[in-house]
Amino acid sequence: MANRSFFIKTFGCQMNERDSEIMAQLLAEREYIETNDSEQADLIILNTCSIRAKAEQKVMSLLGVLRKQKIRNPELKICVAGCVAQQEGKQIIERMPHVDLVIGTQSIYQLTELLDNLGDQPVVTTLSDDYQIPPFIPDLGAGRGQKPPATVPFKKFLTIMQGCNNYCSYCVVPFTRGREISREVSHILEEAHSLVEAGIKEITLLGQNVNSYGKTNRVSKEVNDYSFADLLRAVALIPGLQRLRFTTSNPKDLSDDLMRCFAEIDILCPQFHLPVQSGSNRILSLMNRNYSRELYLEKVETLRSYCPEIALTTDMIVGFPGETDQDFAETMSLLEEVHYHGSFSFKYSDRPGTRSAKFENKVEETVKSERLRIFQDRQDAISLAHNQGYVGKTFPVMIEKISHDSIVGRTGTNHLVHIAETPCNSLPGAIISVHIVHAGQHSLRGKLLEQV
Ligand code: 5AD
Ligand code: SF4
Repeated sequence: MANRSFFIKTFGCQMNERDSEIMAQLLAEREYIETNDSEQADLIILNTCSIRAKAEQKVMSLLGVLRKQKIRNPELKICVAGCVAQQEGKQIIERMPHVDLVIGTQSIYQLTELLDNLGDQPVVTTLSDDYQIPPFIPDLGAGRGQKPPATVPFKKFLTIMQGCNNYCSYCVVPFTRGREISREVSHILEEAHSLVEAGIKEITLLGQNVNSYGKTNRVSKEVNDYSFADLLRAVALIPGLQRLRFTTSNPKDLSDDLMRCFAEIDILCPQFHLPVQSGSNRILSLMNRNYSRELYLEKVETLRSYCPEIALTTDMIVGFPGETDQDFAETMSLLEEVHYHGSFSFKYSDRPGTRSAKFENKVEETVKSERLRIFQDRQDAISLAHNQGYVGKTFPVMIEKISHDSIVGRTGTNHLVHIAETPCNSLPGAIISVHIVHAGQHSLRGKLLEQV
């Protein structure tokens, strides 16, 4: 049967974004066509996130809306993928009987097989302890027809591992993504080579905790011989690759060898997302983070000694159970000390199955909101100060988007730059030299100097 159409809505992190691309490619290989109009789709996939309660509520309310579409079109297939699918499993079908397929985080590669075999009864997949991530060669053109040159992809995520073994007390990830498993080095390099051959200029290596790449259980000898730093060095050697990034790292596993890569690998962008979660040692210990504020600050200092221009970002949780005014003051003082370029900050949210959900001394919602506001206001001011420091300087900027009267690009530090009034012959992925003339809260403005 040809010409069935599918619509994917992705919630949450970059891992999910990459998984959605993989599912889209698998469907395109089976002659499905992607549509942006969910009303027209024969198959709707919600690739979900359950990191905080709010993310999960969004999915449930959207599924409620889709119930009506399924009544209008009984042939419609509805699939829930991602972390909510893994976490809730059968309960999704119990609450939402119009869902046909609940596909866990380890089963995305079997999507088309599962769809082919779908009968009248809904199907729910589960996590397995023997899971291995299969080799996967991206096809950048799959199913999307002829793209205009200005929208040809130039940067991609590449998943190097899945899952997490850390069991931070607040986090659902070890339950939704399973035990840590590293992909084979040869599969990663093959995927990276094929991306670069297809014209990709920037690759971001993805994993929940990339620093423990190769140290994890159930890995082959080949993987065991490679640390994450070794893997970075190997990917960086691919001719034609211009920028390399990675995310996410747990500070406890951040090795000196990895930090040194910022001094040694030219194409490794001077940007590091290093989630700290709290500035208080007491809360870090309750969070089971396995590092102290002092150790974290030491790593920051080392990183800056290897790469003084590195832009540091973090994740912060406010209102963790038992967080006192004093603990929060320590979070604020850490923000002052590190002076992050940016951060993602969240109010603590109870998640099912996590240890902290059972902790006492929950912080009141109003207190959490107030702490979040104080943190974010201060971070905004610090980010602006950093941005103002870029004015008058010149940076290589990779073009992301070109319209008739402007260019949008990114610096190596991952700052968005708007370049106005610029006739430009280049395509997305080209690197241009830009002189920064103005700094805003969330982006910079610059003038084109030359094409590099
Ligand atoms: N409540 C609030 N924030 C959370 N995060 C993870 N779990 C929770 C939770 N239960 C945040 C952390 C993590 C980011 C991806 O989401 O800061 O680094
Ligand atoms: Fe969650 Fe901690 Fe693993 Fe990050 S390191 S995914 S916060 S358990």
